[in-house]
Amino acid sequence: MATVALVSRPASVLPKISSSCSSAIQYASSVSTVQQRKLHHALIPKGKGGRSSSSGIAATVFGATGFLGRYVVNRLGRIGSQIIIPHRCDQYDIMYLRPMGDLGQLIFMEWDARDKDSIKRALEHSNVVINLVGREWETRNYRFEDVYVTIPQQIARAAREAGITKFIHMSHLNADITSPSKYLRNKAVGETAVRDEFPDAVIMKPSEMFGREDKFFNHYANMRWFGNAIPLIALGKKTVKQPVHVGDVAKAIINAVRDPDANGKTYALVGPNRYLLHDLVEYIYAVAHRPFMPYPLPRPLYHLASRFFSMSPFEPWITPDKVDRFHTTDMKYPGLPGLEDLGITASTVEQKAIEILRRHRRFRYLEADLNEAKPAKTVSY
Ligand SMILES: NC(=O)c1ccc[n+]([C@@H]2O[C@H](COP(=O)([O-])OP(=O)(O)OC[C@H]3O[C@@H](n4cnc5c(N)ncnc54)[C@H](OP(=O)(O)O)[C@@H]3O)[C@@H](O)[C@H]2O)c1
Repeated sequence: MATVALVSRPASVLPKISSSCSSAIQYASSVSTVQQRKLHHALIPKGKGGRSSSSGIAATVFGATGFLGRYVVNRLGRIGSQIIIPHRCDQYDIMYLRPMGDLGQLIFMEWDARDKDSIKRALEHSNVVINLVGREWETRNYRFEDVYVTIPQQIARAAREAGITKFIHMSHLNADITSPSKYLRNKAVGETAVRDEFPDAVIMKPSEMFGREDKFFNHYANMRWFGNAIPLIALGKKTVKQPVHVGDVAKAIINAVRDPDANGKTYALVGPNRYLLHDLVEYIYAVAHRPFMPYPLPRPLYHLASRFFSMSPFEPWITPDKVDRFHTTDMKYPGLPGLEDLGITASTVEQKAIEILRRHRRFRYLEADLNEAKPAKTVSY
């Protein structure tokens, strides 16, 4: 039986290491902090590759209950993977994830990001760990430092100590220690912390993601509730965005899991086109068949207004940090591999926008032709 890497899911069915391991390995496991693991028969790839087959992947997906999480879980499920879903909400709130895996392939377990043992428990039977934990705003309990530095660091350390060979960490394209956004500054620190703990980690740097449940296109489309007037710093003519479709990012994660050469690399995941923020929002309103009335708002005033919203005890509609993040021009990383290096052709905004924006249309325009919306002008800088 193979003595490298891997796992089994239910602890009760794990073969006892002592009965079949060589004494050398037993010795090594006693002196090393890295756990020695065995290949459980349930993880030997078999079948035709569909949802009821076995891909050989047992993945713990931290942050699976979020926007990107559902796409990653679905993609893992449809190739026949076991997926461990640590969650902190009520199980009934995440019932929508259940049909994404074959019977018994999705394992839900409660976790507490501050409890190291619960992190260890969540990944002890996996061979892949994916960290999608994130939050757009700070809370009294979790600051950005906790969410983007401490928690990823703890997960990376636990994964290394458990002998896991594949760790995927989500960062952000514009992660930068000098950014005006605290979210992006902490993302940059988090990248370094994860690399230090787990040098072979695959770091994904997507730009803003769009998709049905996003907080980017939907955020701008929802601004119509404030009288159709859209505040944009410098009218959005000084900000360049290169959004990426959430489905492409999920595919990139799965392909990186399956590609041994991806280990240790950092990927910049962006869409095929760059747009001025002004033109992008104009296109969003054209597809939604709503009047587009932008007005320039100076940054300090925008911050002041968003500070009011950020006092909400619920999900704040906007925060000063989000204003800065949305008005940061997407960086270019010509030296980093991207979607095409993982065998993915990026979807354009024009292909996917209608999926997101149809629900923002008035009833009489629900079926209106998409061609009526002129594609947004692209830029190359
Ligand atoms: N969305 C984008 O456009 C975008 C762009 C670039 C990078 N990213 C990064 O990609 C990752 C996934 O993004 P997303 O949009 O899917 O995020 P999301 O929808 O906000 O989901 C975040 C996930 O993290 C979990 N989480 C947050 N704080 C936690 C805590 N203190 N303890 C335990 N779990 C916690 C949430 O659990 P609950 O459901 O229990 O809150 C949720 O499952 C994040 O790291 C994000 O920063 C996102």
